[in-house]
Amino acid sequence: MTGLEMPSADLLAHFALSEPASLAQTAIANLWTVTRADGHRAVLKVYGPRGMGSEAQGFRFLAAAPPDHAARVYATRPDAALIEWLEGPSLGDTARAGHDMPAAQELLGVASGLHRGAAQPTEGYPLLMERFAALFDLRLADDCEPQLRAAMAKARSMAQELLSSQVDQRPLHGDLHHDNIRKAARGYCAFDAKGLVGERSYELANAFRLPKGCEERICDPGRILALAALWSAGFGVDRLRLLQWAAAKCALSIAWRSKGRLSHDPELPLLANLLSCAENVDE
Ligand SMILES: Nc1ncnc2c1ncn2[C@@H]1O[C@H](COP(=O)(O)OP(=O)(O)OP(=O)(O)O)[C@@H](O)[C@H]1O
Ligand SMILES: [Mg+2]
Repeated sequence: MTGLEMPSADLLAHFALSEPASLAQTAIANLWTVTRADGHRAVLKVYGPRGMGSEAQGFRFLAAAPPDHAARVYATRPDAALIEWLEGPSLGDTARAGHDMPAAQELLGVASGLHRGAAQPTEGYPLLMERFAALFDLRLADDCEPQLRAAMAKARSMAQELLSSQVDQRPLHGDLHHDNIRKAARGYCAFDAKGLVGERSYELANAFRLPKGCEERICDPGRILALAALWSAGFGVDRLRLLQWAAAKCALSIAWRSKGRLSHDPELPLLANLLSCAENVDE
């Protein structure tokens, strides 16, 4: 999204906010830190013409999740959301500082906390199956690298198999990874949720690919297998399915990036290693 103008006076008045200071810009929104009427700091996320999209259901997921590991959502309206300010650091910062496995352990704690107790009602959330449409609709360019072609074919059939045999389906954060978790006084909290219904083990799939800035380590089969062991045991999900979901999500991200017609992609080495770990893991 473009435009560094301040939030409108109408919006600030609507949420009773003052002292807006620019925080970040994303593809669909501008973010500011603001001060609430009670004097506490918060984050105001204001969406552009594309609207909130899947983040609307993300705010619903966070608002209904156990509060000790979810950012508080103070208020929303169709074009904006007011969210708890999370001081930090993020788990991405922790991993980038060389503490990847401690970050993985904290990420597991947040995932477990978000899913403690009974699952949320599923009505109204989009389905994980729909999110994978881009992978199934993807066209490979004539000059697509043969290794990429083979890996994407494998990942596609793996995704098809997983989606048609989902277990323990429930509302999920939908984009849980290191840089969507920041520290607050009460502990690490998730924010930036997408909100969808799918197999519980999918919640940890995307974090195998992240955080940004740790690419060499992320690709290491030793890390992939260590995460699979830690997270499957701690989150109570099947290790093989977790690895398969990680490969499927990696292929989906490649499909999104290709804008519909794939010829090459920098994540091929990671996809190949995720597939190989999934194919060779002892059940
Ligand atoms: N509640 C919050 N407290 C502190 N920092 C936040 C908060 N919400 C967002 N941020 C920071 O603002 C930036 C943008 O965050 P956000 O998660 O909204 O978008 P993104 O991850 O950059 O993009 P996308 O929406 O495409 O995932 C990030 O650096 C994030 O750490
Ligand atoms: Mg984010």
